[in-house]
Amino acid sequence: MAGTRTHADEAREEVVEAALARLGLDAKARLLAGQDMWTLPGLPEIGLKSLVMSDGPIGVRGVRWTADDPSVALPSPTALAATWDPELARRAGVLLAQESRRKGVHVLLAPTVNLHRSPLGGRHFEAYSEDPYLTGLIGAGYVKGVQSGGVGTTVKHFVANDAETDRFTVNNLLSERALRELYLAPFETIVENAHPWGIMTAYNTVNGTTMTEHRYLVNEVLRGEWGFDGFNVSDWTAARSTVGAIEGGLDVAMPGPDTVYGAALAAAVRDGKVDEATVDTAVRNVLRLAARVGILEGAEPVVTELPETVDGSELAREIARRAFVLVRNEGALPLKPGRVALIGAAARDARVLGGGSATVFPSRIVSPLDGLTAALPEGTLTYAVGAAPDTELSVFDPGFELCAICRDADGNVIGSDSAPGGQLKWMGPSALPEGVTYEQLHTVEVTGTFTPRESGLHAFGIQGIGTFTLTIGGTTHFDDVQNPAKDDPFITFFGEPTPRAQAELTAGEPVDVSLTYVVEPPEGLTMRAIIFALAHQEPQRDPDELIAEAVAAARDADTAVVVVATTERVESEGFDRADLRLPGRQDDLVRAVAAANPNTVVVVNSGSPVELPWRDDVAAVLLSWFPGQEGGAALADVLTGAHEPGGRLPTTWGSLTDAPVTQVVPSDGELPYTEGVFIGYRAWEKEGRSPSYAFGHGLGYTDWTYESVEATGTTVRVRVRNSGQRPGREVVQVYLAPSEPDAERPARWLAGFAGVEAAPGESAEVTVELPRRMFEIWDEMTMSWSLVKGSYEIQVGRSITDRRLTATINV
Ligand code: BGC
Repeated sequence: MAGTRTHADEAREEVVEAALARLGLDAKARLLAGQDMWTLPGLPEIGLKSLVMSDGPIGVRGVRWTADDPSVALPSPTALAATWDPELARRAGVLLAQESRRKGVHVLLAPTVNLHRSPLGGRHFEAYSEDPYLTGLIGAGYVKGVQSGGVGTTVKHFVANDAETDRFTVNNLLSERALRELYLAPFETIVENAHPWGIMTAYNTVNGTTMTEHRYLVNEVLRGEWGFDGFNVSDWTAARSTVGAIEGGLDVAMPGPDTVYGAALAAAVRDGKVDEATVDTAVRNVLRLAARVGILEGAEPVVTELPETVDGSELAREIARRAFVLVRNEGALPLKPGRVALIGAAARDARVLGGGSATVFPSRIVSPLDGLTAALPEGTLTYAVGAAPDTELSVFDPGFELCAICRDADGNVIGSDSAPGGQLKWMGPSALPEGVTYEQLHTVEVTGTFTPRESGLHAFGIQGIGTFTLTIGGTTHFDDVQNPAKDDPFITFFGEPTPRAQAELTAGEPVDVSLTYVVEPPEGLTMRAIIFALAHQEPQRDPDELIAEAVAAARDADTAVVVVATTERVESEGFDRADLRLPGRQDDLVRAVAAANPNTVVVVNSGSPVELPWRDDVAAVLLSWFPGQEGGAALADVLTGAHEPGGRLPTTWGSLTDAPVTQVVPSDGELPYTEGVFIGYRAWEKEGRSPSYAFGHGLGYTDWTYESVEATGTTVRVRVRNSGQRPGREVVQVYLAPSEPDAERPARWLAGFAGVEAAPGESAEVTVELPRRMFEIWDEMTMSWSLVKGSYEIQVGRSITDRRLTATINV
């Protein structure tokens, strides 16, 4: 059960009950429906303020989807998990609570704790790991941190939202064992250890029941067995039926104002289809949340003393370097004094975060080029693009200065707003510029100037659906309707921009740009919204020429550092990946540079696994994930050796052909998880395949000797010595392997871990307590956990394949 009630909890419950008793059916039903994209209605009659939610997980976007409402951007969730440090995750949470408070946000829609089932999962970067235990502990740290700042969380997406293809409708078919031992496990750990105030139910269906109506998993498992007492919010537009959702334990249907709750719910009660007591239960859950975050009059919030203020940039930088995983180092790192050739489009235009609803807008971005320029002696660094990963137009290119002008049907200006980067996401009436209403609004024009940084043929285009006019330098290039490419309405938000204009421009010379949109309700979305963007692409140069330039730069340098990256089209929301290859000519680039300079270091800037076919031909490979706003500064810290890279792989990296579980495309609406409990390293080991880099792997700049392991009961003590030349931090990993092979169970699994620091020559001891659950399986006959007695080998080491010491225990 999730904690026992304190006096303060009891006092809040009393206020909640009193408030509930004063509400009529219509007000109750209204409270359970979003009033717009991000908020619930306030109810002044009971002293309840409007509850504000915002996306995370790496920052706090707030209620406006725009760069002029910036947020700190921490490294991607995969990076946070790569630190293997729940305490660091807690500190990340403290910062995010601080950001939430600054922006008036009461609930952060995070963390994402779905599992890395298939490397093709489009939102892989936004989840933590392929291992449920690591995921659960990082998630618990994160939730504790956010909530210690008095801000709620919604652990998401409950449950089995492990891929994006047909995510609204897919029926994931899972065995009860796989559900319990893998997919539910992180949620359970977080409920037990961090007592989250919220959960978000997923779009998908599990074993025939859509998750926003899954009475068994929500009411019986989550609330009943685990004792979850927070609120359950639907993923955005996931609630489909009034009666099904309320009976299935869904408290809040988002976004509003048109949802299955509100008036429809009140009517269902009046028609006798829903018991008012069921509505009361949901309202109670929402009021309890409101009391906890301090927006219900008379209730003392859970947090009355805020944690100390955190420096967001510093923390972002610390997490990034602690997350970088050095998977290969043939002596190239740390960099030796000398000339460095920095190569790659992402070295200059850093890709610091993944796409989709996880997007936030940092107020600054330190690219690898910025970071290394600041860290290396003047005159020792050169830069070459080498190869562009992006073959399409992108939103948010540098060089635009734009604003948005709103006009009525007669062409009169009725309002305006800033439009940084030319992207507008005004969702709901409250997002419109001051004084503007949907009734009056006829067109929105994004207008201003673009100053190119390179001369040549620039391309411009449009992301969005509807009627547009695009004018560049006084010439109208497009004046027509742009239709959706796919039927997922979220493509409007994140879809591929369509090229519509080309213009020959000169570097440094501004040109007028204008994109006008004729306002109409976007299809498939229930809420009024203005969502479109002006997109752009730099002049395209001959790729062979670019690679040749990079090779020349590499030849002239002592070390070549190549930054390769994925793009928003590869890792985002609403679609899965088609392959694991680096986009564009980046593999060719690395091969050519490595052939020219034996001291080639490759930095892999992706949120999730990519194939590295040249990995054995380069001197070092450093995975930097999506490293957040300070990524370039952290990269300089690590490359120069000011700090060691601290990360260990939270997920196996290998090629798509070797990956044992890849299926993300449903057939006839169904996606069977046929692999059962064998995902990630559990599956790689079962299949007897060797990945490129194993789960848990990661090098620092010192060496470690494993000296002893001792197991007393389920307490494991491990002594390690820093046998290298510099101080370091080791992640001691404990795997549990049944002594008798059992085809139904993995060969071994992660059962505990601990970080430890030591100076050169110094030894240190860690104690790892193995939870009882590590020795249990879910028994599908009795529908309960069952201890598997017998002998187990405790295997201690640096990764799942680099095991150094063993001990045996009997349970
Ligand atoms: C995503 C959620 C997100 C929500 C609000 C959904 O499409 O799946 O993770 O919190 O949108 O942006």
